[in-house]
Order: sequence, then structure tokens, then C-alpha cells
Amino acid sequence: MSEELAINGGPVTRDKSAKPWPTNSNASGHMFGDEELALLAQVIESGQLGWQYGTMVKQFEAEFAARHGAKHACAVTSGTAALHTAMGALRLEVGDEVITSAVTDMGTVIAIVQCNCVPVFADVDPQTMLMTPESIEALITDRTRAVVVVHLFGQPCEMDAIAALCEQHDLALVEDCAQAHDAAWDGRPVGTIGDIGCFSLQQSKHITTGDGGICITDDDEFQDHMVCFHDKYYDRTGQDRAPQRIGINYRMSELVGAVALAQVRKLDTIIGRRQQNADIMCAGLAEIEGLNPPKVHPKVTQHTWWRLAFTIDEEILGVDSQKFGQSIGAEGLPFSVAYGRREPICMLPALANYAAYGSGNFPWEPPYGRAVPYRREDYPGTNWAMSNVFGTSWIETLTEDDVNDMLDGLRKVADYYRERA
Ligand SMILES: Cc1ncc(COP(=O)(O)O)c(C=O)c1O
Repeated sequence: MSEELAINGGPVTRDKSAKPWPTNSNASGHMFGDEELALLAQVIESGQLGWQYGTMVKQFEAEFAARHGAKHACAVTSGTAALHTAMGALRLEVGDEVITSAVTDMGTVIAIVQCNCVPVFADVDPQTMLMTPESIEALITDRTRAVVVVHLFGQPCEMDAIAALCEQHDLALVEDCAQAHDAAWDGRPVGTIGDIGCFSLQQSKHITTGDGGICITDDDEFQDHMVCFHDKYYDRTGQDRAPQRIGINYRMSELVGAVALAQVRKLDTIIGRRQQNADIMCAGLAEIEGLNPPKVHPKVTQHTWWRLAFTIDEEILGVDSQKFGQSIGAEGLPFSVAYGRREPICMLPALANYAAYGSGNFPWEPPYGRAVPYRREDYPGTNWAMSNVFGTSWIETLTEDDVNDMLDGLRKVADYYRERA
């Protein structure tokens, strides 16, 4: 018989106070070092801290665009800012509908609403938590103008079908790649499949500046509008055009640009380490009867593991996800069920109450937009995933020893329940 579980008073698999897991909320989960410090020192010594005067942000944009094979890049102050800048460049009408995922960060939604558009939420595949083409298609109306696809946890969405839908219905396609730096669908890097790709450099992302973001595009007109939009629609091209529209100030400072530049040069190493550990983890999970390793679409040519997620087979194990989750938590493992606030994002008060501006319901009210219904029961995939998908941040500083501890704990708990099922 297997060893007694920690939840029943047995020994823990990993004593987290003696042997803490690395975390992306401090240096233990990142690769910061002399490279960042040297570039930061250059900025200070140059006295050129603003993007207009310096070289760091421009160089970061050039290197980021080049590694994606994209024609242009525009660095900004956050992933939310990147998405807002992309939406600004699309120049949508007030009340236009934009379809995005029911499982995402508020930043994706804020960008839509701040352009006075109405967000509409697609359900997700319960195993991958990725918005599905079928769910998007069912939501397209004559008011739909764009789709913001969210590549969650480092895995691309089904881009063949989604791009085809956008083409067929003449919809702009923006890619939220905040969690999917360097991921690829059928050999194409995410961010280059749709019209504009948006990335975040927030503290938990593959590469980080604490906060920061960047957009990429091949389209000259979108780039012109993004560069203007993020810089108050001032024109720095030498043509001295007066501001043509209302923009915002999302300029990345040279200090942030210096760190971003050092970080992007480490991206290959970061992704390589994540993949190496993910391979060990997925192979290990596949050998534990009753656990389902992460579901990866066969056309995903590069998964970059922002989070590693798996599910259990409740029948084989004779235990539900909730009890299994409590048991692995007691073993000291870092996995938790659910993501975000455990419900479709449209059920959060700001959205469920249409609360964006003043005390009214603009832009969800006529004559501007439509009061799109947000109902929990319309999201079976999301609801299931929020109670049954286990995940943990898959950071590059995890060691093989850490991965083995995770597998030991999962094997111990799965064996215990299966033997008693
Ligand atoms: C999927 C997704 N979209 C958008 C964002 C917004 O990025 P930021 O926090 O940099 O504004 C995040 C990050 O939190 C995210 O995970």
C-alpha cells in the first residue's frame, strides 16, 4: 500500500519552508543579472531617459520585431497598454462588438471597453482553457468588428480556424500573446498570424521589466497609428503632422527599454529551460494512472509553458478534483485549481453590471451598443475548467529536482486514491 497522505497526518512530500519553490514574484524565478545592469548604467550615463532621445527602446523594438519576423514593433508601458494601442489603431466605431475569451486578464477587456466597444466573451475548451473557433463563430453578429484571441498559458489557440473565420466575416484579428512569448502555431510565431500581436512584460511573464508591453505588426498603416496613438498622436517622423486623433501616453522609458533589451536576448534560454522541464513533467504525468497530462493541439509547434496545467480522471482515482487539490496542497506541491477569480470574466461586477463610465451603462446601451447578456450558464467549458484544471507557474528557474518533487507528490496522492477506489 502507498504511503499515508500528508492530509491524513502522513509525511509531506516537500517541506516548503525548508525548501521553497522558486517564484516569479522575486529574483528566485527570473534571470536578471549583469546584462540588465550594464544597459541600465548606459542609460543613466547618457542622460537620455526618454524614448524619443535614446536608443534602448528602439533597439528593443528592432530585436523583438526581428525575432518574430515582423515588420514593425511599438513598445509600450504594459500588456494592457499594448492591447489598447492595438485597439486604438483599428479605429473601431463606438458600440462595435469585439469577441474575446471568457478566461483572460482584465487587461484584455479594458482595452476593448476603453475604445468604447462592447466585449463579447467566447467559451473555452475545458482542458486547455483556450477559446474555441466554434464558440467564437456562435457569437458573430452584424455588430462584430474584431476578435482578440488569447493564447493562454503559453499555448496558441486554433489559429487556422480562427483566422479563417475572421477572413470570412471581415473581422480584424488581434492576438493577446501576454502569456505566450515565442509560442508557435504550425510553425508561425504567435503575434504574427493576426493583424497585430500584443505582448506583456509584467512581472510574471516570460520576460519582464516589472511592467511593460509591446505590439508587433506587418501593416504600415496600423503601425503608423500605433506609434501615434501611444504618443499622444504627436508625429516624430519629421513630417510634423498635427495630432490627427486623440491618443494617450504609453511611451516606454529608456530605463524600462534597457531591461527589456537585456531580457529579450535571454528569451531563447528561458523558453529552452521551460520546455526541457515541461518535457520531463509531461512524460511523468503520462505514467501516473488517473492523471491527464496537458492537452496540446497537434498543430502547436511551440508551446512555451507560462503555466503547466493538467486534469485528473475522477473515476479512476475515486476522488473529486477538490479533494485531490487539497491533498496535493497538503503535500507541499505548488498546484492549484482554477485560474483568476474562478468564473467567466464577464461575471465580474465591472462587466456584469456594465460599469465603465459614470453611473450609466455606456457603451452597452442604445443608441451606442447592445446590452450583450453575460450569463454564467453560457460558459460550460469555463465553469468546468475553473473547478478541475490544476496549474502552476512554469518558471525557468525550476530545477529537475523541483520537477521530480512535483511528480513524486502527484504519484503518491494518485496511487493512494487509486488503490482505494
Ligand atoms: C492574457 C493576458 N492579457 C493581458 C494581460 C495584461 O498585461 P499587463 O498586466 O502587462 O497589463 C495579461 C497579464 O496580466 C494577461 O495574462
